[in-house]
Amino acid sequence: TKHIGILTSGGDSPGLNAAIRGVGKAALDRKMHVLGFRDGFRGLMENRAVELDSANLSGILTVGGTILGTSREKPHKMTVAGKVRDMTDAIVANYRANQLDCLVCLGGGGTQKNALRLKQAGLNVVTLPKTIDNDVAETDITFGFDTALGIATDAIDRLHSTAHSHHRIIVVEIMGHRAGWLALGAGIAGGADVVLVPEIPYRVESVADAIKKRKRGGKPFSIVAVAEGALTVAEHEALLAAPPAAKGKKSKAGIEVREMVYADRTIQLAQQLEALTDLEARITILGHLQRGGTPSAADRILATRLGTAAVDLIQAGQHGVMVAARGEATVPVALEEVAGRIKTVPVDHPWVTSARQVGTNFGD
Ligand code: F6P
Repeated sequence: TKHIGILTSGGDSPGLNAAIRGVGKAALDRKMHVLGFRDGFRGLMENRAVELDSANLSGILTVGGTILGTSREKPHKMTVAGKVRDMTDAIVANYRANQLDCLVCLGGGGTQKNALRLKQAGLNVVTLPKTIDNDVAETDITFGFDTALGIATDAIDRLHSTAHSHHRIIVVEIMGHRAGWLALGAGIAGGADVVLVPEIPYRVESVADAIKKRKRGGKPFSIVAVAEGALTVAEHEALLAAPPAAKGKKSKAGIEVREMVYADRTIQLAQQLEALTDLEARITILGHLQRGGTPSAADRILATRLGTAAVDLIQAGQHGVMVAARGEATVPVALEEVAGRIKTVPVDHPWVTSARQVGTNFGD
């Protein structure tokens, strides 16, 4: 009998429970023994586990969040008794004590890096790509994205009412970390007039011009979908000009530009647009609404496909890989190919070119 462990790490995301169920049920079907660790890598370090069986894997397909709990804790940087310590050895010891043959880690970019570290420490790991940001390298799509896209689109649809009725600009801030997939997708689907994404630095003046042009054309209202990581041309240039960070450290300028509170930037943008256009502006920050609640059908299917494919790989003795979705297929990709990379929106991506053709302004 094979023994497998499973944990969820990083921000919660719709479809996590569907994936846990996919892995768990497929593993039970192969007569494997399945242990779920609580709260990401911390639970593995502290050996807080629950056996997953057909009873507790039932009824979770449609439920948001993760039944296992999650955290953003990293094996090599965990706070223990008030001190940040490398707890990799403790994690390896618990993996061995539980006689695991493989650990399945469900997570986004950070989780892929942590899984690679555990692979390098000698553990057998398989990962699944989970995040609403859709920014994991080597996979067409991540589970969570489709649900968040639906929520953000619905929000834009609803914001149109007020924008239109009150002749206002509505700036809606959409998640996505340093990638614009969610803002771009929801912007297209919701018919946002302006879409600002990290990949295309923008000028406030260009955005204002587009809004004024609409006003002159008889549409004195606009929806601006801004990705939380969007940068102005000036911010982007400051980042490029910043001295590179010392190895293993974050660049100071990078921290200043990137880690300015997203909401503050969105407020600033709305104020500038108000001043430049003479229209009233309001902001809406969708925040964690985008990660909550029941997963879409597409995410349930994707999570189930990826979860069961992970078990196929484990059964075949393959590990050290992420299960990627490529078209209709699921393929294993070495963790080295995935970890430390992020998949951003190419500036000539078909979504961008189509959006431009229907008149969407990118502020560039
Ligand atoms: O990665 C998912 C995500 O929701 C990002 O879009 C966002 O930047 C981040 O997580 C927010 O993290 P937290 O929930 O820890 O505030």
